[in-house]
Amino acid sequence: MTNKTTNYLEQYDAAADADKYPLVRGWMYSEPLPFFKELREKRPILVTPECTLLALFDDVTDVLNMPKVFTVELYVAKMADYLMAHDDDALHSREKSIMMGLLNRDDLPQVRAMVANIGKGLLDQANGRIEVVNDYCRMVPATLVQDYFGLTGVDRKDLIEWSYWNQYNTFHNQPFDLLSEELSQSVTNHQKEVSGKLGKYIAGLILRRLPITKAEQALSVLLTPLSLLKKLLGQQSGQADKKLTDDIVARMLRTSFPHAVDFDIKRLGVNAGGLLIGAIETTSQAVAQTIQFFLERPELLAKAVDAAKMDDPKAFDGMVWEALRFVPIAPYLFRKAAGEYTVAKGTAHATTISAGTIILPLTQSAMFDPTAFELPDEFIAERNWYHYFHFGFGSHDCLGKYVGMVLIPEMVRQVLLRSGIKAHGSIDYKSGPFPEQYDLSWGS
Ligand code: HEM
Repeated sequence: MTNKTTNYLEQYDAAADADKYPLVRGWMYSEPLPFFKELREKRPILVTPECTLLALFDDVTDVLNMPKVFTVELYVAKMADYLMAHDDDALHSREKSIMMGLLNRDDLPQVRAMVANIGKGLLDQANGRIEVVNDYCRMVPATLVQDYFGLTGVDRKDLIEWSYWNQYNTFHNQPFDLLSEELSQSVTNHQKEVSGKLGKYIAGLILRRLPITKAEQALSVLLTPLSLLKKLLGQQSGQADKKLTDDIVARMLRTSFPHAVDFDIKRLGVNAGGLLIGAIETTSQAVAQTIQFFLERPELLAKAVDAAKMDDPKAFDGMVWEALRFVPIAPYLFRKAAGEYTVAKGTAHATTISAGTIILPLTQSAMFDPTAFELPDEFIAERNWYHYFHFGFGSHDCLGKYVGMVLIPEMVRQVLLRSGIKAHGSIDYKSGPFPEQYDLSWGS
């Protein structure tokens, strides 16, 4: 799929300093695969005036494995005190592990069933024609944020807007995004505005749900001896606890940590908000781009539809992960060097990075590096899952990874199961970083 002969580096070397990074930026988005291939073959570490790009699998994983050296400092101004802006410290370890435990992986079969149900309901309502980005790709995760994460009592449109501006400002309003000053300021302002609204909503959510959760819990403690007795007498199989309202916010409110653990109600609120921010726009982009990837390739689409009909989702899910290698939500992650480090030491492309340098580990390029991906240009659905970077890599890998691993494929699956599914035009990004419109129809 990437046979174009190219000479990006010749053009790059001949360009004036001020034009070098803008050229690179354009290629990363308009023709990433041939550009990255040339980098891997000729200049695996490209030092531009704006930032340094790493194109090989081994260099990308090396850097992402050292959070204290290659830091997430660029997140700090964007997300205050959330765990994501902390590198390998007590807060990051504590809050990530607490949240990972609460997002119990044993829930995943039910989560997948919920997603199937929500998705099917939205598609049934649409009567054969849908603008899939707003009415499905954003709406399904927003509904899951309410039903499974427990951010209840709010319009899903608000949840979508709050996630959107936070994601835009954090991931697409950085120096290397080359936004005009005016646009950059407007995105920052929007994020500030919605963060205020999200903060107020979370405070209200806790005030509303805390007494109910505690009352339910107290009642269940009272009922426990009775329920144990009934169980002993063989009249009841479950525990009283199983009858409690169950979603992630309820689990958070029901759990009291000793003071020394340092996870108080304020930290609970910050982490409840984080669940929303991470979930919507990422999922929407991944799902919209994967659907388009298949709809544009009739042979693969036929195979995907066959796999979608199987009871075991394994084959279908493998096709989705492989599709995302070609159309990932971003071609790179980004880090800032805290100290000097020589990447690829002992090789011909060894490069010393100095403190303060911004690094773009090109995760999409790493997913086409033949050392980790045999026949990288071919679509091979049964690849080793551990080599993909769809949910990041290393200490900052995605908290919602396991939810995402059922959410994304099940959403794509529900759409591809509509018989005669077709697109009317392609995804419209409306000059922004995210899919904004994609019209689909199905049936006769
Ligand atoms: C389903 C709900 C989701 C939640 C609650 C969530 C939350 C998070 C959080 C908290 C982090 C930072 C973890 C850390 O710093 O240790 C993270 C990282 C990440 N997430 Fe998610 N996420 C979700 C879904 C997704 C989806 C659907 C995708 C992609 C399709 C995704 C892609 C990523 C990536 C690539 C990173 C790594 C960022 C980095 O290394 O700088 N996430 N996510």
